[in-house]
Amino acid sequence: CGIVGYTGYRQAYPIVLEGLKKLEYRGYDSAGIALHKGDSLAVYKKEGKVSVLENFASIYDKTSNIGIGHTRWATHGEPSDRNSHPHVSASGNLAMIHNGIIENYGQLKSELLDKGYTFLSDTDSEVLLNFIEYIKTNNECTLEEAMRIALKRVSGAYVILLIDQDYPDTIFAARKGSPLVIGIGKGEHFLGSDASPMLEFTKEVVYINDYELAIVRPDELILKNLGNERITPYVQKLDIELAAIEKGGFDHFMLKEIFEQPKTIFDSLRGRLDLDKSSVTLSGIEAIEDKIKQARRIIIVACGTSWHAGLMAEYVIEELCRINVEVEYASEFRYRNPIITKEDVIIAISQSGETADTLVALENAKEQGATIFGLVNVVGSSIARISHAGAYTHAGPEIGVASTKAYTAQLAVLQLIALKIAKIKGTISDERFNTLLLDLAEVPEKVDFILNNQVENIQRIASKYSGAQDALFLGRGFNFPTALEGALKLKEISYIHAEGYPAAEMKHGPIALVDENLPVIFVATKDSYHDKIISNMQEIKARKGKVIAIVSEGDEIASSLADDFIVVPNCNEVIAPLLAVIPLQLLSYYIGIERGVDVDKPRNLAKSVTVE
Ligand code: G6P
Repeated sequence: CGIVGYTGYRQAYPIVLEGLKKLEYRGYDSAGIALHKGDSLAVYKKEGKVSVLENFASIYDKTSNIGIGHTRWATHGEPSDRNSHPHVSASGNLAMIHNGIIENYGQLKSELLDKGYTFLSDTDSEVLLNFIEYIKTNNECTLEEAMRIALKRVSGAYVILLIDQDYPDTIFAARKGSPLVIGIGKGEHFLGSDASPMLEFTKEVVYINDYELAIVRPDELILKNLGNERITPYVQKLDIELAAIEKGGFDHFMLKEIFEQPKTIFDSLRGRLDLDKSSVTLSGIEAIEDKIKQARRIIIVACGTSWHAGLMAEYVIEELCRINVEVEYASEFRYRNPIITKEDVIIAISQSGETADTLVALENAKEQGATIFGLVNVVGSSIARISHAGAYTHAGPEIGVASTKAYTAQLAVLQLIALKIAKIKGTISDERFNTLLLDLAEVPEKVDFILNNQVENIQRIASKYSGAQDALFLGRGFNFPTALEGALKLKEISYIHAEGYPAAEMKHGPIALVDENLPVIFVATKDSYHDKIISNMQEIKARKGKVIAIVSEGDEIASSLADDFIVVPNCNEVIAPLLAVIPLQLLSYYIGIERGVDVDKPRNLAKSVTVE
């Protein structure tokens, strides 16, 4: 979910509404805004996207200098008007928005039901709100005190923003597990799940930590811990520009972000890859050099597309560094009682730096003594802050829900990490190191080449296969993760069922799906087992499957076997995943468009999943 708040001298509604539009990538099942109207609280909320709320609220007088807003990704209770936030407390005096999950809401709810409370929604959030109100009334204390007492009883994750009828200029906020940023203005404050809603007004922000409570007024920001001790806010200056979160002439953020990749990959390598000195500088890896030398294995923890980047890293790090790598889904790793020792180095990969499963998996591993290295895109995010060391991907804000430029930036930095570790461990020859360095430096240019030369071809292929019901993506070795990522992209933004598989493993199941209607997308760039994947293509052709192949420039064999093919420049096989994924992103994008999907906001998904 995304949350926004404003208190100051301007009209709050337009600021909160525009803020919600910027945070819609975090969820778009419903949206709502609460304003303090002097003698009452006004709440507008609607199932659907923020635009539905905007139309609905257009007829009302929304004059107010203080408001909170929410865009929802449903957890407890179906998307509906009544389950939308803000929720209003039983007395009508408090309005609250919540991002996260209250795990013990069942118990709290039954306590409240015993006390005679009734509920208007099915949400855990309304339970927390009434629990806070119950404590406030029962203990005859301030809202602030009631929040402290209530939150100590809560298990789960939350960011909550509340407005109180009795405090016409104050937003009360608290966080544990879900993100909260407060923007500092002159005579005004902004609140958000990330900084995008406040960027046009201020670059000075405070990231709120777990178990902190904020009392926010136009001229004052008071931070406290749950023990009621004051904390000095740590103000940071952001260097993101507003343009970075706008579409800049493209039809969709996703397309813009695909086309940004020559630059974002370059940015992720800049200052780190030095061809003159033949070196890789990564201060995060240098900071944990001793740990890396002692480590008997590296564990990579991630979710979704970031997990695919991790899988590629397993292939590359094992190849270059001769160290055992395990790649774990964070959601499994955190619950399956894994064996973790002080010698383990964990690399966490996350675009947002806020994915709840990844965050908690890391906290658990950290408690057990492992060294945490965070590879994160969002500066100042929770994962960045709990890591012992790390590297930012520098892809800039990614708004399209389906990850593109963040993925290739992850791949680029992971290549650098592998090269750096190989140097530290002495497992790579100077010659191979230099060749890979040179090849990596050429990636931005080669991506640019694909974007300049293959788009029309890809559009044609997209329209030819857009009616497919299923699709199979096959790859081997370094490009097996690329096949998984290609399948994930397609299903996310076209709703075509797609599977990614190791090309040879396809014989043990998916081959049963092959007929003349099934597009099979081969990631078949030149590598050391190229003739093996050619055989796999033959196997599909023999069963009348339609072969679409991503091929290296000049590869006559693969291109002549395929029904359709997309050419990418030649490069070292270790680095090929950085190039091969680009056509797959474009293919998914254009198929999604052909099928009329809102590609930036595909159904049911959210960009940043801050619940488990
Ligand atoms: C969501 C997004 C994916 C992303 C995954 C992990 O599912 O829709 O694009 O890969 O979360 O997110 P993270 O921010 O941790 O990389």
